Amino acid sequence: MKSLKLVQYFLFTASLSAFAQDWSRDVEVNYPRENIYQLEQRSFDRKVNEGRKVALFYPVTVSELLIPYRPLKTFFESSPNDPVRKIIFDLARVVSPFKSMPEVFEWLGVHEFPWTTQEETPNQLPELSADEKELPMGATLIKTENGEALTFGCAACHAADLFGVKVLGLTNRFPRANEFFRQGQKLAPYVNSFVFKEILKTTEGERLMMLKAKNVTKWVGAKQPVVLGLDTSLAQVALSLAKREKDPYATRTFKSALNPRPNKLSTAVADSKPAVWWNVKYKNRWLSDGSIVSGNPVHTNFLWNEIGRGTDLKKLEEWMNKSQDEIEALTAAVFASRAPRYEKFFGVDSINIQKAKKGQKHYVQSCQKCHGTYEKGWDLLYGDLLSKTKQIQNIKVIYHKKTPVIDVGTDPGRYLGMKEFAQDLNELQISKQLNAMVEPQKGYVPPPLDGIWARWPYFHNNSIPNLCALLTKAEERPKTYYAGKAIDKERDYDQECLGYPIGEKTPDEWKENLSLFYDTKKEGLSNAGHDERIFIKDGKEIYSGQEKSELIEFLKTL
Ligand code: HEC
Ligand code: HEC
Repeated sequence: MKSLKLVQYFLFTASLSAFAQDWSRDVEVNYPRENIYQLEQRSFDRKVNEGRKVALFYPVTVSELLIPYRPLKTFFESSPNDPVRKIIFDLARVVSPFKSMPEVFEWLGVHEFPWTTQEETPNQLPELSADEKELPMGATLIKTENGEALTFGCAACHAADLFGVKVLGLTNRFPRANEFFRQGQKLAPYVNSFVFKEILKTTEGERLMMLKAKNVTKWVGAKQPVVLGLDTSLAQVALSLAKREKDPYATRTFKSALNPRPNKLSTAVADSKPAVWWNVKYKNRWLSDGSIVSGNPVHTNFLWNEIGRGTDLKKLEEWMNKSQDEIEALTAAVFASRAPRYEKFFGVDSINIQKAKKGQKHYVQSCQKCHGTYEKGWDLLYGDLLSKTKQIQNIKVIYHKKTPVIDVGTDPGRYLGMKEFAQDLNELQISKQLNAMVEPQKGYVPPPLDGIWARWPYFHNNSIPNLCALLTKAEERPKTYYAGKAIDKERDYDQECLGYPIGEKTPDEWKENLSLFYDTKKEGLSNAGHDERIFIKDGKEIYSGQEKSELIEFLKTL
């Protein structure tokens, strides 16, 4: 027994000695941190692979907001000839417009797993069994003592379908996670209904699970995003905390649920899109406004996700303490993420190197000081002799040692929102333990531009449909546009402007769907800023149309 303990002890310290990452405030980023724990190649590959699995299948087991999966399936999959089915659907119409599970997932915006290995993705998915791929990316089944439960993980917001290629770490352009909570709250009153008990033949465990979920929604403050594509996690955390006591564990009481503290985010808009993961390795401050100034960003994400689900924070703390390995693996995977490459999707001949090199000059002159330096293959000594594919790669990316936050006049709603609950967050015991501190900022982080071609629509609030619009004076930018899925490279993507085709080029079917309409007049959706002193000097454009097109050609290669 004693010797076993000793062996365990050595194994434990051996895993610690790998490399302890320093997460304190302003620790300088002196090297690219793709391999955050500085593991040797084989352990690194293994760790990242494990971490991607954690990103796909949510590991937290202490949430009470779980949906009993079997009754849900029965609900949608009863035989079409079954007379009971009609009753279910008649009743269901009251609460749900859906006719099948795939319809639910389609609405949620989660993506099916690919069935073959996709060479174009920079972040290979782990090998999974057919069973594991049955539900879409991010949807997770958890085995509990009360039966099988459905929940959602990181990939629900942080994976996308890019022309048929599934890219983990890319923003989901159409997530409906927040609305899902709101639908859930609408459904809650039906838990004890006849349908639930008799028709769906629920077990006692399943009814218990549903009751627990219903109960916990008391401490969930859900909010609908202003437009599809943005996310209200920020408001959800603020409004959920406002429904808890103001103590180190934000204790959940009936009193606090009934009398939430007033919070401006119940009306003020602070929506933003889920960020891409491959920028994290360059930064030491997290979120679009750089307001999280210390701590491991993955820890913070678990904390935020769970506050938004109404979870008991003592239980979360216990879970975090015993799940170090999973958290470490996910951290390794997030930091190791890479951007998709333009040439893998459009072919290397779609890039004009001479033009891109001209664009690089404009970039160095007007963009580099904020967005970082990109050294290209063609910059190397004898770089001209390299193959075209090698010439267009980034050889070295140099970003700020301390992540800057700059106000370039873009919509302030998102960064102002942080003020409304920073203090509540910082006072939590769990934030102190994780050293995850929030400091509200004025402005946003100029993000590294790796894979910018795939990150449309642009800015934290999606207010700019493509790079031609971004390089246009704010007053002359499109005031509205239609969004749509990236299915067809020719129809759904403007290869000259890198982003949504707008105006006449908009695919007709996008115009039929009101939820795809983006209107910059709405609160939080302004497309102002990022023009004067960048490519406009004293009100005048500094680049001709041709020069802007060269700049975009260079951006294609990042
Ligand atoms: C409901 C959607 C949603 C889910 C689920 C979600 N995120 Fe996010 N995530 C966001 C949004 C939105 C942002 C950006 C917010 C902002 O900065 O304004 C973000 C930002 C991040 C960032 C910061 C990136 C940066 O550049 O600073 C990281 C890292 C991250 N998420 C990781 C995760 C991990 C890990 C999980 C799973 C534990 C997760 N997220 C689950 C929506 C989500
Ligand atoms: C003074 C600093 C600064 C300069 C110079 C600058 N930018 Fe930016 N840029 C920012 C900031 C800050 C943001 C984030 C704005 C937001 O999301 O609201 C941004 C955002 C962007 C985005 C959107 C990123 C995304 O993920 O949506 C692109 C693209 C971009 N800049 C391109 C450029 C180009 C091209 C140039 C040179 C012509 C340039 N920027 C010059 C500060 C700068």
